[in-house]
Amino acid sequence: MEYKMKLTDEEKAILQGSQGETMQKVMRTLVLYGDTFDAEKMVPLTHKASHLVTSFGLGMITPVYNIMDELIQAGIVTEEKFTMDPRPLDYENVKCNFIEKLVFNKFMYTKQDDYEAQLKKVGLKDDNAFSCTCYLEQVGNIPKKGDVISWAESSAVVYANSVLGARCNRNSALIELFGSIAGVVPYFGLLTDEGRKADWIIEVKTSKIPEAQVLGSAIGLKVMEDVPYIVGLDPYLGTEIDARAQAYLKDMGAATASNGAVGLFHVENLTPEAKEHGRALIKEGAQTFVVDDKVLEQTIAGYPIMWKDKEATPKLCFIGCPHLSLSQLDDWTAALTENLEKNGKSKVQVRTVLTSAPDVIEAFKKTENYRRLLQTGATLTSICPLMYMNNPIAGKKAVMTNSNKLRTYTMARYYTDAEVLERVCGKEGI
Ligand code: F3S
Repeated sequence: MEYKMKLTDEEKAILQGSQGETMQKVMRTLVLYGDTFDAEKMVPLTHKASHLVTSFGLGMITPVYNIMDELIQAGIVTEEKFTMDPRPLDYENVKCNFIEKLVFNKFMYTKQDDYEAQLKKVGLKDDNAFSCTCYLEQVGNIPKKGDVISWAESSAVVYANSVLGARCNRNSALIELFGSIAGVVPYFGLLTDEGRKADWIIEVKTSKIPEAQVLGSAIGLKVMEDVPYIVGLDPYLGTEIDARAQAYLKDMGAATASNGAVGLFHVENLTPEAKEHGRALIKEGAQTFVVDDKVLEQTIAGYPIMWKDKEATPKLCFIGCPHLSLSQLDDWTAALTENLEKNGKSKVQVRTVLTSAPDVIEAFKKTENYRRLLQTGATLTSICPLMYMNNPIAGKKAVMTNSNKLRTYTMARYYTDAEVLERVCGKEGI
């Protein structure tokens, strides 16, 4: 095989089959990937636990199952156990009717159990490893600043790069697994110092803290795959990444990554590399984009309403894409409880589902707030709402969400947090 990258003797030997045919294919895939992006060499992973994006056993993705079988037959396992994106279904907490179950079980996620059995053999961490927020304390897949990692899942990659200061490209499905099997990844893009410099200065000049999901959307739509350096957020978020800033940057980042294709952002005086290097991170000739109240309003006004009946009463509300942190579960519990009380209601008026990582939910269940949340009538699950909505039946329902990622990829309609509370908690006296 011809290649442009500079490889070590060991990498060359693997490419020639020294560790068997399957490892040869793994290395060849990584080299082709690197060559495509003009990577100069491979670099070793310094945090080896991967995070995989393909968590759903869709019947039609046979090549994935064939590749997993080949890895298993060759006795290949990842050096460190990996985490995965959320599962698609949870009938206990996200009830489905007969037809929906039929579609899910017979036509869509027909391979879920078989696929999970394959994943366990290749290195899946455990049954709780299914969440897009693998980097939360309770889940524990947490790279350090400067660590080279092999992850996919755009919201997790942008968080790891930006908030943790790790280094990862926006890899696709299976590439992340191959990187973690080989223990090396091609050196290009967001792995390099130059690739981490900002092409844009985003000046936040709003009258109050912007909704994280809308600010992320406005930035993503403007800069697309470029790196933004955001100024004007630290007055709202402070200069330390506490639980509030963590949740904000998680949600903002997911919106930048899904409404655009951002893999890394810097926030002045807050995120690790911005704290270390300051404005030296900004490329010469960087463009400036000012985000003010009007830009946020226009961003929301630009979202198409995909519901068949645009005036429909919402039937279902998803909160938590990406999965909610423990502090967000506490905040939503307090907000739902207070707003219901204020409006003289005992239960949510729209079926409301909060999503969070299994390990976070376990921790939450040990607190008094878990009981309070259930009293509101809301339910808690660890599924990915996008997977749940990714079918013709769910797509027809009037689903509302405060997630800009879910809005982008499904027919769900976006509402700000305040609007969600207003709809879900009803109106006073009505
Ligand atoms: Fe996570 Fe699924 Fe949303 S993977 S970010 S809950 S689309």
